[in-house]
Amino acid sequence: MLIALAGLPGSGKSAVAEDLARALRCAVLSVDPAEAAMWRAGVSQSEPTGLAAYLVVEALAAEQISLGHDVVVDVVNAVEEARAQWRDLARWLNTELRFIEVRCSDPGEHRGRLERRSRGIAGFREPTWADVQRRREEFAPWADDKLTLDSMDPRESNLRVALEYLDRPAG
Ligand SMILES: Nc1ncnc2c1ncn2[C@@H]1O[C@H](COP(=O)(O)OP(=O)(O)OP(=O)(O)O)[C@@H](O)[C@H]1O
Ligand SMILES: [Mg+2]
Repeated sequence: MLIALAGLPGSGKSAVAEDLARALRCAVLSVDPAEAAMWRAGVSQSEPTGLAAYLVVEALAAEQISLGHDVVVDVVNAVEEARAQWRDLARWLNTELRFIEVRCSDPGEHRGRLERRSRGIAGFREPTWADVQRRREEFAPWADDKLTLDSMDPRESNLRVALEYLDRPAG
């Protein structure tokens, strides 16, 4: 199964990804560390490293899924092109795709979490609240069947809801 997360920076995707990966004992693949690695290798930030990072994660996900492993892709998935990439990959590999969108319903808490946290990704500039506002505007509505979680709810209950969702047949 391919589990694709979605949500604004600081919304709580990586927390859900981590909790799911521990519960399912599966891989988490994230785009931000992949992009930061390209920059550390000397690839210019003016190059399309954001797209490249999505493609790197896609290639790694394909390999794991082909081996029969579940994969969680920890990505923002703001735009239709990004979401289409996971749909195409799942179709190509003949595997099930589940989208889980994470939101934070309290903007003050969302901002506080964003500004307090440090992921320690070498070479990566942490997104600011202004970046989040910009991404919010470009975050396209979508019609896929998906689970939406609110990161104001406790992590344990979100994990339970997510596992129940993944257990149910798609559709
Ligand atoms: N349900 C929750 N309860 C309490 N704190 C949470 C919850 N979910 C996430 N957090 C905290 O909020 C902060 C942001 O979460 P996280 O790093 O998972 O966001 P993200 O969506 O992965 O952001 P990015 O796209 O920038 O990687 C972290 O410090 C995380 O520990
Ligand atoms: Mg994250």
